[in-house]
Amino acid sequence: MSQMTIQGGKALTGRVDLRGAKNLVTKAMVAALLADSPSLLRDVPHISDVEVVSRLLQLHGVTIDFQDNGEMRLDPTNVKSARMVDIDAHAGSSRIPILFCGPLLHQLGEAFIPDLGGCHIGDRPIDFHLDVLRNFGAVIEKLPNGTRMSAPDGLHGAKISLPYPSVGATEQVLLTAVRSEGITELSGAAIEPEIVDLIAILQKMGAIISVDTDRVIRIEGVKRLDGYTHRALFDRNEAASWAAAALATKGDIFVGGARQPEMMTFLNVFRKVGGAFEIEDDGIRFFHPGGELQPVVIETDVHPGFMTDWQQPLVVALTQAKGLSIVHETVYENRFGFTEALNQMGAQIQIYRECLGGNPCRFGQRNFYHSAVISGPTELHGADIRVPDLRGGFSHIVAALAARGTSNVTNVQLISRGYEHFLSKLESLGADFTYSE
Ligand code: EPU
Repeated sequence: MSQMTIQGGKALTGRVDLRGAKNLVTKAMVAALLADSPSLLRDVPHISDVEVVSRLLQLHGVTIDFQDNGEMRLDPTNVKSARMVDIDAHAGSSRIPILFCGPLLHQLGEAFIPDLGGCHIGDRPIDFHLDVLRNFGAVIEKLPNGTRMSAPDGLHGAKISLPYPSVGATEQVLLTAVRSEGITELSGAAIEPEIVDLIAILQKMGAIISVDTDRVIRIEGVKRLDGYTHRALFDRNEAASWAAAALATKGDIFVGGARQPEMMTFLNVFRKVGGAFEIEDDGIRFFHPGGELQPVVIETDVHPGFMTDWQQPLVVALTQAKGLSIVHETVYENRFGFTEALNQMGAQIQIYRECLGGNPCRFGQRNFYHSAVISGPTELHGADIRVPDLRGGFSHIVAALAARGTSNVTNVQLISRGYEHFLSKLESLGADFTYSE
């Protein structure tokens, strides 16, 4: 298990450059499976989620050539079924395999996907995905080690309404509908920028998709799709993570590749807390302008709301704001586990079952601790911590960098699931740490 020993108390300053968004790139790779010619994806980050998806694609006969410069060529011309035992070796490593269903059903008439992994931030069921696939005509069989699917009568367009604008289920519909017979109408869709970028990719491939302003997406199925050439949308989550790190450590970080339009909601909150930013053509500079940070009340939500993946690093900065901040998490029911380690480091964060500071959400009146009250400013001190999940883990590292004294952080390899060249970026920002495998 990899470990970092961090000497805190140093401001992070310098520049980091982003590549494509983890939550787009991995889906774009799956989209390549739908074509009958090769695709070229640019700005692919070297992260372990990309490795897992690459291995699964390769098992299905896709040839992948991945260069250091982030260019990935995916050739699906020899797609084939994979052995269950080989697929199963990837059980628990990612959530992306569920998105292989539609493309594999189109290409091979059958699919087997392993039990899913991903961060433990709630139950993370796949009921929406399975309902969606049944709507298209898939027959689903749960096996002890995964899920098998077939489409004896082919896949046909459907009228689908999601009970919640789930990102994954929306992607499931898109990746299945584009080559299904007839028209699909999806209401209650998620409209995150990563989804819009996936739609752009599918359109380049030959798909016909329209997005209305009321979360309705219409897809006209086509018989075949070509490969695409595309530069992936930048990683908004990584951008927000470095912004929060600059604020929490009283630093100054230029995030190359970050863009304003997809970050507007974050930028508003960052400014309200007392952070400063300057928007340039090639990125955004985030810095602590001096003076006191202000408390805020935020509610995480689907786009265009404040993203759930932004709250964890920002909470670390909020421990330095003067007064009470409230964060109401409405996307995942169990995403405040990381606050325990922050409290161990001197933060004062109390979590509640009630929907605090915003509108009642679907987790209210149930046993989920999904609201947090952060009381600041509190001086953070070093501690021994274990990385629990991707975003929570990043926030622990930020807290350790902002804290007085030494922290030992274990399970650090988990962070490479979503942050490319994490350690060398920290080094270039002047962080003081050692690392061992
Ligand atoms: N949900 C269900 N049933 C389903 C699917 C989802 O109840 O079948 C619920 C979830 O349990 C959750 C809510 O719907 O409470 C939203 O889940 P969603 O499907 O939108 O999330 P996801 O597709 O599994 C992606 C990102 C997450 C990000 C969310 C929200 C990927 C690989 N993951 O997850 O990213 O937080 O959308 O934007 O794209 C991360 O990057 O660290 C991360 C967790």
